[in-house]
Amino acid sequence: MGNAIPIEEPRGKLGVLLPGMGAVATTFIAGVEAVRRGIGRPIGSLTQMGTIRLGKRTEKRVPTIREFVPLASPEELVFGGWDIRPDNCYEIAMNGGVLEPALLGQLRGFLEGIRPMPAVFDRHYVKRLDGTHVKRGANKAELVQMLIEDTERFRAATGVSRLVMVWCGSTEIFLEPQEVHQTLENFECGLQENHPAIAPSMIYAYAALRSGIPYANGAPNLTVDVPALVELARQKSVPIAGKDFKTGQTLMKTIIAPGLKARLLGLAGWFSTNILGNRDGEVLDDPESFKTKEESKLSVLEHILQPDLYPELYRDFHHVVRINYYPPRGDNKEGWDNIDIVGWLGYPMQIKIDFLCRDSILAAPLVLDLVLFLDLAKRAGMRGIQEWLSFYFKSPMCAPTVYPEHDLFIQLMKLKNTLRHLRGEEMITHLGLEYYD
Ligand SMILES: NC(=O)c1ccc[n+]([C@@H]2O[C@H](COP(=O)([O-])OP(=O)(O)OC[C@H]3O[C@@H](n4cnc5c(N)ncnc54)[C@H](O)[C@@H]3O)[C@@H](O)[C@H]2O)c1
Repeated sequence: MGNAIPIEEPRGKLGVLLPGMGAVATTFIAGVEAVRRGIGRPIGSLTQMGTIRLGKRTEKRVPTIREFVPLASPEELVFGGWDIRPDNCYEIAMNGGVLEPALLGQLRGFLEGIRPMPAVFDRHYVKRLDGTHVKRGANKAELVQMLIEDTERFRAATGVSRLVMVWCGSTEIFLEPQEVHQTLENFECGLQENHPAIAPSMIYAYAALRSGIPYANGAPNLTVDVPALVELARQKSVPIAGKDFKTGQTLMKTIIAPGLKARLLGLAGWFSTNILGNRDGEVLDDPESFKTKEESKLSVLEHILQPDLYPELYRDFHHVVRINYYPPRGDNKEGWDNIDIVGWLGYPMQIKIDFLCRDSILAAPLVLDLVLFLDLAKRAGMRGIQEWLSFYFKSPMCAPTVYPEHDLFIQLMKLKNTLRHLRGEEMITHLGLEYYD
């Protein structure tokens, strides 16, 4: 056993601030409340249902993760956020059509009590949306100030001792890193000068980091994945994580691709298409927002399969991703994958996947885990990019010197080893020769 890292105890309530209170945010909030009332189970959440093996297999030490590290309890969570529409969370969840009206009816009073604050929003960055519940400021620096005041008001009104922010807002148009994102000084000038490459999601992130609030990015937007904001996170000792919740089709990809590679089965092509009818689907119907999502979804296979190391198996495979907005499906997306693989002597084979999933049902437990793990990271003095939370993201943020790790199983091992490291437990290598000596 090594030395455990000192971790502050999670005393008091934990505020969860969500820019973007749509399907994912309300499914998360309603879900946590249902769990607290004992009318639902937190299925899909590692912090609530996961265990962690410690030491040798013969020791049989397998505590739950929440016994092993000092996490805030779901009982302690208090919710707030921003949206471009003033509807309360009950109305949003009813319109979203993810959770059954009967369940929402039981939670009605609680959900009606949560109303979004007016958003920082600009149609330029999300073409398919428009709203009236929006802040007006002389420049982007003033909007930052307004968000900081919102968070302070929320802190005072709820009496929370700590806060975490998770972006659950829409996918913005594709932005590439530019000069204004390279240093904190440039970024702060850009806020004053209303630089067009500073999107609303970055304004929220900057406000959070300035206030010492951990920030996770659930969308593929650039947001905190730029040197200026990574620098600010380090300066303020705040943990950050992103980008883009790994839920449906990409989750499947990062489960299957490592298996194909493990068996050295070649890949000729992977065609993925989706039909989706929720508001996220409508936003992604705009080519500029889709481009941001497409980039996020495409990079996964390259990194897992490593064509540079296995050119015979993985060079030049065709990878196509489509999202089709199809309203009748609502949040119940259908994702098809056709995978053309190659075996012994070059013989072709095919795999077909038809995943009838529920987008927000898959995303909600990820939001819960990210809230609890980021709060843990902050109390453990961890700052900047939290690569161990890659497990939750389609485009994991990582140091500029390394490539992102996409393989779900490596990500899980990284996450659990980080928890072992925090508690001074031995890393698990799976070597196991000692059992046979
Ligand atoms: N499985 C999933 O559901 C999943 C997976 C990966 C990523 N995501 C991403 O998570 C985000 C949320 O997904 P959703 O299904 O809840 O979408 P949604 O459209 O239901 O909710 C997004 C909300 O954000 C609001 N919004 C947009 N810009 C805003 C701004 N600047 N400030 C405040 N609010 C703003 C919108 O009005 C909307 O209510 C999307 O970006 C989506 O791409 C979702």
